[in-house]
Amino acid sequence: MGSPLKSTAQRAALTREKEILAHQHLRELFAADPTRFQRFHARAADLEFDFSKHRIQESTLELLSKLADDANLAARRDALFRGDPINSTEGRAALHSALRAPFDQRPAVIADDIENMQRRMFAFAESIASGSCHGSTGKPITNIVNIGIGGSDLGPSMTVNALQAHWANPTVKFHFVSNIDPTDIQTTLQQCDVETTLFIIASKTFTTLETLSNANAARSWFLSQGGTKAGIEEHFVAISTNQQKVAEFGIASHNIFPMWDWVGGRYSIWSAIGLPLCIALGPKGFCEFLEGAHRMDQHFLNSEFRTNAPVLMALLSIWYAEFFNVQSLGILCYEDYLDQFPDYLQQLDMESNGKRVCFDGTPVDYKTGMPVWGNVGSNSQHSFHQLLHQGTIDVPVDFIVGVNSCNPCGEQQAQLFANCLAQSQALMQGRTLEEVTAELRQQGMSEDEIEQLAPHKVIPGNKPSTTIVYPKLTPSVLGQLIALYEHKIFVQSVIWDINPFDQWGVELGKQMSRDIFKMLGEHNPTQSDGSTLGLIGLFQKHQQKTGA
Ligand code: F6P
Repeated sequence: MGSPLKSTAQRAALTREKEILAHQHLRELFAADPTRFQRFHARAADLEFDFSKHRIQESTLELLSKLADDANLAARRDALFRGDPINSTEGRAALHSALRAPFDQRPAVIADDIENMQRRMFAFAESIASGSCHGSTGKPITNIVNIGIGGSDLGPSMTVNALQAHWANPTVKFHFVSNIDPTDIQTTLQQCDVETTLFIIASKTFTTLETLSNANAARSWFLSQGGTKAGIEEHFVAISTNQQKVAEFGIASHNIFPMWDWVGGRYSIWSAIGLPLCIALGPKGFCEFLEGAHRMDQHFLNSEFRTNAPVLMALLSIWYAEFFNVQSLGILCYEDYLDQFPDYLQQLDMESNGKRVCFDGTPVDYKTGMPVWGNVGSNSQHSFHQLLHQGTIDVPVDFIVGVNSCNPCGEQQAQLFANCLAQSQALMQGRTLEEVTAELRQQGMSEDEIEQLAPHKVIPGNKPSTTIVYPKLTPSVLGQLIALYEHKIFVQSVIWDINPFDQWGVELGKQMSRDIFKMLGEHNPTQSDGSTLGLIGLFQKHQQKTGA
């Protein structure tokens, strides 16, 4: 049926709306309506949303909601949860939501598979926590090295990093290896003891070059440190759909945790790919994580679009991308434990919605996914916020902040919260020339000096942001946050009429890398472009020089 953004009537209505709002500063909108916070506020599970600092009025949300209606969002959402093959280019369903649903709410055909997989994960996690999971020499496993990349790395790494210190089993140390740069695996192995280390080789396809190279390096290290071929059984497990390739690597079938085609890599933290998190938290904590996400699923399924947080977030980002020429989205987590969350969202969002053709293969004639980037506040305030406040491009920001710290210390959490609010307020209000002038006069500056300095101190404001507040970072809250963004991304894809569950764009580079790797070992290769051949030549020259 195509994207409603193709409708000239819809575009014209939204363009008119933009023209009205383009002349109103957010300050004015707040001054005109003291109830703005209450009116543009939503709640989803334990998360509270302040949408009032957006360049919208009631009619804007009505018009944007019409986009969702015209894109048949409700029907598409039901198809997603039902398990229809909505990933049309691969003929697959995208049933990550089933992995976090109670048994009776899962599609019947996969309900038992999920149950069996979870039972095995939970038993395995418990055996590590109790110390009954031994290496080949009888010592308990205390080091876990997860080897994977993309969705097989970012989810486990981000979630363990976020929850481990406060909620996890402290006797186990986790390491995450993803990069094919040998430094990653080698520096990790230097920290491990062969007798107490378990390698989790996480790869949905078990064909990913980076993961297989690192897995081979890990196996060689294991054998070189006194491990035996028979001992591999106690030290290597795999998570994959590809039983045959795992067997060829040398991992026994009873050490394979299953995955399925209907789970996308970047949506896979809820599956056996979440094994490191399950080991870290134990089955109870892992179930709380799943339940948190399920609560967000329920909110997404059952709330009106007008109060549906992922729907509103998606509509707002389309509003800015399409009508305000916004080019990127900032994610600022005022929670140190969430320092990897922006990286996680980068894959989730950009690999999903970085697409240029509609479902029927025709090119889109509107903007789709945009760069997502961010860091932890308050550190970011002292690095890149300057550009957010006074730069020449607009970057809408999601502020994510907890009320309570996992590690309370005096007034620091209140200071952190105040910093977060101050940033969103400063972005919204800015500082006018009159305000700056008055302040400088009060400081006793001369009129000449004021004229020189004042323009540099003016801050335009009118920069939109969403603030997402949660009571305290828990496994459940993290599950809610991840599911929130998954659904936001899905809603955007529905309105854009693009497939968020494939990723053909990354294939070309993989193929080319294989050819270039071959050429690096050839004498005088010729089958490439001038730049690539030149760079291959440099590699060969310098590699010989260093004798590597
Ligand atoms: O290169 C992209 C990608 O296919 C991601 O979508 C995926 O998360 C990652 O590679 C890893 O894939 P696998 O789990 O099959 O090794």
